[in-house]
Amino acid sequence: MIQTILLKNRPKGSPTLSDFEFVKEDTKLTPKEGEILLDTVYVSVDPYLRGRMSDAKSYAAPFELNKPIYSGVVAKVTVSKNDNFKEGEFVMGMLDWKTQQVSSGKDLMKVDGEKAPLSAYLGILGMTGLTAYLGLTQIGKPKAGETLIVSGAAGAVGSVVGQIAKNLGLTVIGIAGTDEKVDLLKSKFGFDAAINYNTSKDMSADIAKAAPNGIDIYFDNVGGPISDAVLFNINQFGRIVNCGAISVYNNTELPKSISVQPFLVKNSALMQGFIVSNYEEKFPEAMQQLAEWLAAGKLTYTETVVEGFENIPKAFMDLFEGKNTGKMVVKI
Ligand SMILES: NC(=O)c1ccc[n+]([C@@H]2O[C@H](COP(=O)([O-])OP(=O)(O)OC[C@H]3O[C@@H](n4cnc5c(N)ncnc54)[C@H](OP(=O)(O)O)[C@@H]3O)[C@@H](O)[C@H]2O)c1
Repeated sequence: MIQTILLKNRPKGSPTLSDFEFVKEDTKLTPKEGEILLDTVYVSVDPYLRGRMSDAKSYAAPFELNKPIYSGVVAKVTVSKNDNFKEGEFVMGMLDWKTQQVSSGKDLMKVDGEKAPLSAYLGILGMTGLTAYLGLTQIGKPKAGETLIVSGAAGAVGSVVGQIAKNLGLTVIGIAGTDEKVDLLKSKFGFDAAINYNTSKDMSADIAKAAPNGIDIYFDNVGGPISDAVLFNINQFGRIVNCGAISVYNNTELPKSISVQPFLVKNSALMQGFIVSNYEEKFPEAMQQLAEWLAAGKLTYTETVVEGFENIPKAFMDLFEGKNTGKMVVKI
């Protein structure tokens, strides 16, 4: 039995289970010459997939209605008719939300479960780690002694950004949505301070208290009012790295926000968005640095692992409720 998840409707506002359709097929897949048969092992759910569910113009093409959704997947090669792959090997790539599928092997990367847990290739040793490292180093341009604040701090990207900044000698403050996450940022990830945006009565004042010397780098994963509060604390020549804006991904109307220009002008500050693929030529050096830090115990990570193919849509939706800590993956 092969199971597939299709996009049934383009979500209006927050996605609901009715936007997804499950299909079960009682067929046997047989790869042709040059192809491989893959069994899905881990599926990555990511906030950016929300953008692809909409047909608004973006950097990535929208998912097609009534076609499988796809994202980062780790899969096992169970049959190989392609000399580049052996049965029993694991691969990672953009694959359909299916329990089993045939592939030509194009754009798949082999991953080694002996070197790191397989799920890590969807997180710290995959897009998450690359986004954190390259966004921070290429746009944030961190210098030892500076102060960095990161929103979505206990999430996949945010928790890595803060640790990298600590490795580079910065003072690091995190913003997250629960007291448990705030505690974890300080106890597990070595952040100097952390703020719960859900209980703070005055985010701008709380940031000022946590960062008496002001903010030199803001790594923004969430946008919206949290990011407005950071602007009041940005230093001269500060850098604002726009990685994501999850707080507005489900908005049906344009969000009301303060005007950023006076803050940027007054402080000669830089604000720049990016997509990790902008820095593709730097992936090998970034991967090497991340793997080195991981091996040396200078980086750690946490994951939220949801079990079961049928729970993929729910796991995706839970990202918008802050139900994950670290990278959210679904184990099949
Ligand atoms: N530019 C790129 O190339 C690139 C690549 C990867 C990811 N991203 C972006 O980076 C951001 C983080 O992605 P991720 O994969 O690491 O996801 P993640 O942070 O692991 O998961 C999402 C987290 O966002 C927080 N959140 C949800 N709704 C929120 C709201 N309304 N206000 C504030 N926080 C909210 C939740 O944490 P709390 O409990 O703290 O609210 C949740 O756990 C996303 O915006 C994503 O789109 C960008």
